[in-house]
Amino acid sequence: MKKMTEENLKSAFAGESQAHMRYLIFADKAEQEKKNNVARLFRSIAHAEEIHATNHFRTMEGIHPTAENLEAAIGGETFEVEEMYPAYKSVADLQEEKGAQRSITWAFETEKVHQELYRRAKEAIALGEDLQIGDIYICGACGFTLEGQLPDKCPLCGASSSRFSKF
Ligand SMILES: [Fe+2]
Ligand SMILES: [Fe+2]
Repeated sequence: MKKMTEENLKSAFAGESQAHMRYLIFADKAEQEKKNNVARLFRSIAHAEEIHATNHFRTMEGIHPTAENLEAAIGGETFEVEEMYPAYKSVADLQEEKGAQRSITWAFETEKVHQELYRRAKEAIALGEDLQIGDIYICGACGFTLEGQLPDKCPLCGASSSRFSKF
C-alpha cells in the first residue's frame, strides 16, 4: 500500500474508533436522561463507526493470526506500562491535576494485569493450545481486570462487587 493511503487509513481508524467510544458514552448519558430513542440512535451509529474502523483496520492489514495479534497486544500494553502512563502520571502529578491522576493511575495499574494475561495467552498459543483461564471480571468504575473469584470490592478503586462485569 502507498504510504500516504496507509497514513490516511491509520488516521481514519483512530477517528472512527474514537467516534465509536464517544457515541457509546453519549448513549449511556441519553439513557440516564430517559431519552431512549436518542440513546438508540447513538448506539446504532456507534456500531456503524465500529464497522468503518474494522474495515479501515483490515484494509491496512492490521489483522494477523492470533499469535501475532497477541504480540501486538503485549507491545501496546508494555508501552503503556513502561513509558506512556508513567510519563503521563508525572505530568499530572506536576500539574496537580487530581482527576487525571486518578484516571491515569486506574489505567496504569490495570494495564499491568492486561500485559500479564496476554503474556500467558501467548505462551499457551505457542504450545498450540488455548489459554486456560477462569472467569474474568472487569470493574465498571476503574476497569480493573481480574481472574477467578469476584472480590467483595474492587482492589483498585474500592467499588462494590455489583459494579463488575463477568466475561
Ligand atoms: Fe490494557
Ligand atoms: Fe475498580
